[in-house]
Amino acid sequence: MRKITLALTAILAAGCVFNTTYEEETSVTNDSYVEVEGRKNFGSSHALMTTPQPCVVIATWDKEHHPNVMVAAWAGQLDATEVIISLSQHKTTENLEASKAFTLSFVDRNTLVQSDYFGLVSGKLVADKIARVGFTVTSSPNVNAPIIKEYPLTLECKVRSFKDGILIGEVVNMSAEERILTGGKVDLDKLQPVVFDASANVYRAVGEVVGHAWQEGKVYMDNQ
Ligand SMILES: Cc1cc2nc3c(=O)[nH]c(=O)nc-3n(C[C@H](O)[C@H](O)[C@H](O)COP(=O)(O)O)c2cc1C
Repeated sequence: MRKITLALTAILAAGCVFNTTYEEETSVTNDSYVEVEGRKNFGSSHALMTTPQPCVVIATWDKEHHPNVMVAAWAGQLDATEVIISLSQHKTTENLEASKAFTLSFVDRNTLVQSDYFGLVSGKLVADKIARVGFTVTSSPNVNAPIIKEYPLTLECKVRSFKDGILIGEVVNMSAEERILTGGKVDLDKLQPVVFDASANVYRAVGEVVGHAWQEGKVYMDNQ
């Protein structure tokens, strides 16, 4: 049984999000819900469902081998070697259909402004978004996709399936710059990733460690 993270509930909600404006989408209500006593009810408004959401950039080659990139927040990890992303129609999706591969990098404090730009304009209108912000690419040695060098952590992915706007990618390699590692592991204090807060429509920094997984709850177990 696959462990599905945050992403799936987001994907259920995402649907046609990117064909409408943010305001139009968040104003949608669903009359079929029943009030939960003692709580404010929002219906099916997507903006409040799964915030915070991971914030990634998807880099692809087009048919002429020009690089393109978009930002995605309706994304997550499906299992140990797969990622899942909900996508509307973009230059990126055209590229994916042809190249069958992409890289996924993580938006951090240093790349936030450039990444937001990648989500504001389409490669269909701006020939090279990556060059415009002064970023550079190299070819992935493992998949048919570019790696944007300014992002220190990147997953190289093959398209496993892309149907009904749901992209599932097989991660064949993860690479990280030394500067974000501690003891050979990716250190989020050094990476400084940001998450997307769909409720307030802002990016937020990932904060300090507040507990250890599979540890803190042991206080309720016997013989610990
Ligand atoms: C914060 C943020 C999150 C986004 N998340 C997604 C997403 O998960 N899926 C999607 O299809 N578009 C998403 N977008 C929109 C695309 O990034 C945007 O339409 C982009 O211009 C597409 O670029 P392209 O046409 O060059 O591929 C997001 C945009 C922003 C600003």
